[in-house]
Amino acid sequence: MNLKGLILSGGKGTRLRPLTHTRAKQLIPIGGKPNLFYVIEDLVKAGIQDIGVVISPETGDEVREALGSGERWGVSLTFIPQDTPAGLAHAVKTAQPFLGESPFVMYLGDNLLSGGINHMLETFKRGCDAVLLLTEVEDPRAFGVAVVDASGRVTRLLEKPKDPPSNLALVGVYLFTAKIHQVIATLEPSGRGEYEITEAIQGLVDRGLSVEALKVRGWWKDTGRPEDLLDANRLTLSQVRRQIAGELVQAEVVGEVVVEKGATIVRSTVRGPAYIGPNAQIEDSFIGPYTAVGKGAKVVGSEVEYSILMDESEVLGLPYRLDSSVLGEKAVVDGKGNTRRHTLQLILGDRSRVKL
Ligand code: TTP
Repeated sequence: MNLKGLILSGGKGTRLRPLTHTRAKQLIPIGGKPNLFYVIEDLVKAGIQDIGVVISPETGDEVREALGSGERWGVSLTFIPQDTPAGLAHAVKTAQPFLGESPFVMYLGDNLLSGGINHMLETFKRGCDAVLLLTEVEDPRAFGVAVVDASGRVTRLLEKPKDPPSNLALVGVYLFTAKIHQVIATLEPSGRGEYEITEAIQGLVDRGLSVEALKVRGWWKDTGRPEDLLDANRLTLSQVRRQIAGELVQAEVVGEVVVEKGATIVRSTVRGPAYIGPNAQIEDSFIGPYTAVGKGAKVVGSEVEYSILMDESEVLGLPYRLDSSVLGEKAVVDGKGNTRRHTLQLILGDRSRVKL
């Protein structure tokens, strides 16, 4: 089976503003690595080598640059520009010349799965036209929702229903045969003006084709939602293993901590799980659990916990403990000269500056 991969990395990213004003949300580092890298790794583990990446006019160049040719993973990447973010089914339609008649895995570029996709492939190989991944959620009204019969076959799909018929939400990974293109060709935009993948899948069901559903293995996160960014960071960091390549000077580094090459930790404590990126500088500071510090970032005379500090961001002389915060690339939080003690929570876009 010549299975291709299709990663959706366009979209608007409105829910993650201000971070997405300047960057693709799929490139926000989670546990020290862009979300898209985990997606590619899952596809590679499933034996997929031919991967299309749907990109937007706004962030396409950044995505191309971050992923390159795919050589690093031993895969071939084809970038597919989508002129407007007109919906997931529109993205598939845009990618049709790349997909041809091949069956394919569609993977949303802002989704993360701990258990990979291999179990979906096993079901798909038994011969069906779509395999979906589902998870139980508390409030299904914000999701695509599926109704499944006792044998695991999907009988109905609804996009963000006001009155959900089940609490089974669609997770952003789907397996399709080329038959999906015939349904997509007949779709009209929905009430919110998008070509909905749920409607396309409903079209498969209506034509009597088999659509199967499986439950997520392990955890799943949609990092397109701000509340989930830090949680995804926590979950990925809880899988890291201690690996110290940087330099420690009077430093106490406790537990599962990755310190990359060129990083220096001086007169500081790092309590894992944590990730300290290449060439990062930590001085006279405390880095608490579930913190990821990006490449070339600086933490001096400060305490940071449960946070994402992107590349080249700086936290200097902060009299507060920075907690549950996301600092964009080159963002600076400068507390030098301020002496009051509190906890501070910040979500700062790239190049922001805060003086306290
Ligand atoms: P969403 O998170 O549903 O949409 P969005 O990126 O526009 O975000 P927001 O709702 O915050 O404005 O998209 C899921 C994934 O699919 C994400 O990685 C972006 C991608 N996508 C496309 O590539 N093309 C599209 O037309 C849409 C809607 C999404």
